[in-house]
Amino acid sequence: MTRILLLGGTTEASSLAKTLAEAGADAVFSYAGRTAMPVRQPLPTRVGGFGGSEGLAAYLLAEAITHVIDATHPFAAQMSTNAVQACAAAGVPLCAFERPAWQAGEGDSWLHTDSIESAVSALPDAPARVFLAIGKQNLTQFAAKPQHHYLLRLVDAPEADLPLPHTTVEIARGPFDVAGDTALMQRYGITHVVAKNAGGMGAAAKLTAARELSLPVIMIGRPQVPAQAGQRPILGSVAEVMAWLSHPAD
Ligand SMILES: NC(=O)c1ccc[n+]([C@@H]2O[C@H](COP(=O)([O-])OP(=O)(O)OC[C@H]3O[C@@H](n4cnc5c(N)ncnc54)[C@H](OP(=O)(O)O)[C@@H]3O)[C@@H](O)[C@H]2O)c1
Repeated sequence: MTRILLLGGTTEASSLAKTLAEAGADAVFSYAGRTAMPVRQPLPTRVGGFGGSEGLAAYLLAEAITHVIDATHPFAAQMSTNAVQACAAAGVPLCAFERPAWQAGEGDSWLHTDSIESAVSALPDAPARVFLAIGKQNLTQFAAKPQHHYLLRLVDAPEADLPLPHTTVEIARGPFDVAGDTALMQRYGITHVVAKNAGGMGAAAKLTAARELSLPVIMIGRPQVPAQAGQRPILGSVAEVMAWLSHPAD
């Protein structure tokens, strides 16, 4: 009997959940619980951490999970690392459902960085108007450059004071479009965009808008997930994941 744990929090996870539900699969959808009103899923849903890799391994055994699909955000590296360790410990096959990284094209002005800290360093010293399009995590590091005005786009209104002195917060949930993002950047006189290389369509409009407005983009590369060869095949489509579920050893 197949029983799937789908680690979610992305558009890809939601589309996979729809296909699994339509196929009548026995699957549990898991949210971290970061947003107040998560998208409703057509699968039984649990919310909250497992308690590290050991907690996840115990959950896999207790729930008789036979397959784990990691469809978390490419920057949710802690969860992905925990999944690798827990699946190894529990002997459960694991795959990652991950969208390809964005690539710079003609007309783009991207500066590639490999961490949040290097993105902070890449910002100018003179006051600028920055679209800090990285969600609500990692804002603290940008307090090292308090001279900038930061435009934040968040799903929920912040509950606590922000660690940055000059901010404007837009409350919005993707997907976003180029016309809207262009207007947003013009309205706030944005001079720089900071983005995580999430890939996918839902948040790509800001990059097209930046190109059209000739704005530089500081692009933060994805963290690595430590895994041995074959331990965590990376699949790029719902169809590939469904095929993997039939033959995980392939
Ligand atoms: N990081 C981003 O930029 C970003 C952007 C959009 C959406 N998201 C989504 O937001 C969630 C949290 O991201 P994050 O960067 O905070 O993750 P993270 O740093 O990798 O994970 C931190 C902890 O949150 C818990 N967790 C994360 N994803 C979970 C899930 N799907 N189900 C149950 N527990 C989960 C785990 O707690 P325990 O150790 O207690 O199990 C994990 O150790 C993820 O589901 C991700 O897909 C993240």
